[in-house]
Formats: sequence, C-alpha cells, structure tokens
Amino acid sequence: MQLLDGKIAAQSVKDRLTEEVKKLVSRGLRPPHLAAILVGQNGASETYVASKIRNCAETGFRSSLVRMDENVSEEALKAEIARLNQDDSVDGILVQLPLPKQIREDNIIQLIDPDKDVDGFHPMNTGRMVQGLPSYIPATPYGIMMLLEHYKIDTQGKHAVVIGRSNIVGRPISVLLNQDGPRGNCTVTVCHSRTRNLAEICRQADIIVAALGKPRFLKADMVKEGSVVIDVGITRVPDTTKKTGFAIQGDVDFAEVSSKCSYITPVPGGVGLMTIAALLQNTYHAYSRRNNT
Ligand code: GUN
Repeated sequence: MQLLDGKIAAQSVKDRLTEEVKKLVSRGLRPPHLAAILVGQNGASETYVASKIRNCAETGFRSSLVRMDENVSEEALKAEIARLNQDDSVDGILVQLPLPKQIREDNIIQLIDPDKDVDGFHPMNTGRMVQGLPSYIPATPYGIMMLLEHYKIDTQGKHAVVIGRSNIVGRPISVLLNQDGPRGNCTVTVCHSRTRNLAEICRQADIIVAALGKPRFLKADMVKEGSVVIDVGITRVPDTTKKTGFAIQGDVDFAEVSSKCSYITPVPGGVGLMTIAALLQNTYHAYSRRNNT
C-alpha cells in the first residue's frame, strides 16, 4: 500500500504558484487576489476559511475576508457579491458554504461572476465542465485529479465507484473521471443513499471515491485487493484526547481498508490539502485570464 500524500502533492502545486507570483511581482505586477465571504460562525467553516487565507499568504497571494452576521439578509449578501464582482482588484470570489437557512444558496452562487467563480459552483461553470469546455472546476474534485496526476495513477478503462452525489464533490468527480483525458476514461458508477447492493458495487471498483460524509463508512469487506481509495470525508467527531475536543475522521475505515489497497489517501493529510491547492490554482488562473499574463 502506498499513501497518496496530499501534503507532498499540494506543496508541489503551491511551490510552483509561489514561483509564478514572485515572477509577477518582480515585473511590477500585483499578485492574485482571493476574496472570501464567511457568514455566521460555523466552527468548521471558520477553520476552512482561515486555512484558505493562510495558504494565500504562504503563496504570496493577496486575500480579503468579508465577515457577515449569521442573520444577514439575502439582499445584503447579494450586495456584497455585486461589489466584489465589480472590484477590479479581486480575481476570485468564494462564498463559504453552508449558508444560514434564510438564504438560498443557489440564488447566491448564481450571482457570482462566472469569471471570478473560483469554487466552480456557478451553473455556467458546471455546464462548461460537463461539456469538457474550459471552466473552473470545484476545488475538491480538481484537487483529487491533481493528486491522481501527481502519483500517475492509471485510470484508463478502470471502474470508478463514487459514493455520494453532491454538487461539490460526488457529481463533478464522476464527470471528471469519466471524461476523455490522461486521468479520465473511467467507467463510473455513482452511488447514493438509495443505492442497492452498495458493498457489492464497491467490491467491483478499481477506484473508490468516498464522499458521503459518514465517518469510517467504507470497510475492508467493501473493497477488492489492489484498489485505489480516495477518502473525501472530513467529519468532526468528539475526541477528549485532542486540545480542540474533536478529531477529523474520514469516510474510510483506514485501519481496516489500507492493507487491501494499492493506494489510499490519509485523513487528515490527503484530499483536504489538495482542495486548498486547487483553489489557489483556480485563483491564479482567474488572475491570468483577467490580466492576460
Ligand atoms: N463548503 C464545503 N466545501 C466547500 C468548498 O469547496 N467551497 C466553499 N465555498 N464552501 C465549501
């Protein structure tokens, strides 16, 4: 079994971007700029946004954080997005999800300028991705594709089973693995909460992407020998031995499954780090497109 180490793969993306930004700045140009909107005080969202901002700083990107109250109106949030859309110094905009109940997420996402939609959640980008046209690809699936590329995992003609059909991970990764390309050309099965015989389907998989958000869901008797297992889960579970009071657990029972795999991602230290690297890559791309560099 070999680990698909997100720390190593993400660092190589970040090192390359850091060099690119240094070159821009040495030419007298400004660095790429990511603006994040964080609504309310969801603990996990706070952690993710803090990490995105820290990674921007480490790579030489500029970042701005717009905090809005839990009770913010949809109108006020829309006005903030309109302001960032128009701000020429902002290359990428992300609205951290989930949003409070009074706000319709789809209404908000559709207002982000598709050219600044570095999360790749706007229907324009989703549609372009599905048709194989240039688009922003959501950061987690994009990060998984980068990880497969870094470790040169052969996907051609393989059976990939994706567990979960969310707009953020399951659905887009199923499209990307299925597309014609160096890390694509899989035959993809997308499983979900109503799937029958899930374990049997997983046992037929060469590649499994577990993205359902249930800690330790995937067990050893659900995977075949030699499979590649990608764990997208990042659930907080109470853990009194940790200073924070919780531990992060993946959707894969790593202790059981790892000995059967050819490759597996750890949690933490796997897909999560790739998500951030992919977000930076998207932001750099937005900058290049907008500034013709
Ligand atoms: N919430 C969970 N994942 C994501 C993500 O990739 N982007 C944003 N904006 N919110 C999220």
